[in-house]
Amino acid sequence: MLINSDVDSTTTMTNIIASTALKARQLTEAEIHEIEHEKTHYPYAQAVGLEALKIVQKHQGWVSDESLLAVAEYLDIPPDDLEGVATFFNMIFRRPVGKHVILLCDSVACWILGCDDLKAHISKTLGIDYGETTEDGLFTLIPVPCLGDCDKAPSMMVGRELYRNLTTEKIDQIIADHKSKA
Ligand code: FES
Repeated sequence: MLINSDVDSTTTMTNIIASTALKARQLTEAEIHEIEHEKTHYPYAQAVGLEALKIVQKHQGWVSDESLLAVAEYLDIPPDDLEGVATFFNMIFRRPVGKHVILLCDSVACWILGCDDLKAHISKTLGIDYGETTEDGLFTLIPVPCLGDCDKAPSMMVGRELYRNLTTEKIDQIIADHKSKA
């Protein structure tokens, strides 16, 4: 399975599918219901690709190749095209992730204000590098481009929560808070 940051631009979804003989899984009723609802907001079904991937991720935690094929079939989108959407949008997870996904901004403002040091601190504390998940399945660390919060850099998100003006002490507290919720 691939996570977005691991996707080699020369690797196409066709190659992946052909080499592993994957089949689309059956979308759940809840997924279909939500995808159908999204379709009412768009002029044609193919435009719903990204939203459908988000729906699948919400229900499954990530988007497996089988899920991606299911969405492609359901919306009649070429799998390569949908894989391109999934690859471009870095919030679509293409392999299993931890319960809490840490999205650490590594764009300019955050970089100037020390995101590399923060990343090193997170990696040392949790024992994971970018794209990896802790052994207990609690945390996955992923770099992301600008979160639109540059005046309060360095910033990161954990799940849907945005954290600003980060320091190593703040990060320790955030990790401890999330561990206590586990
Ligand atoms: S550069 Fe990190 S929030 Fe903008």
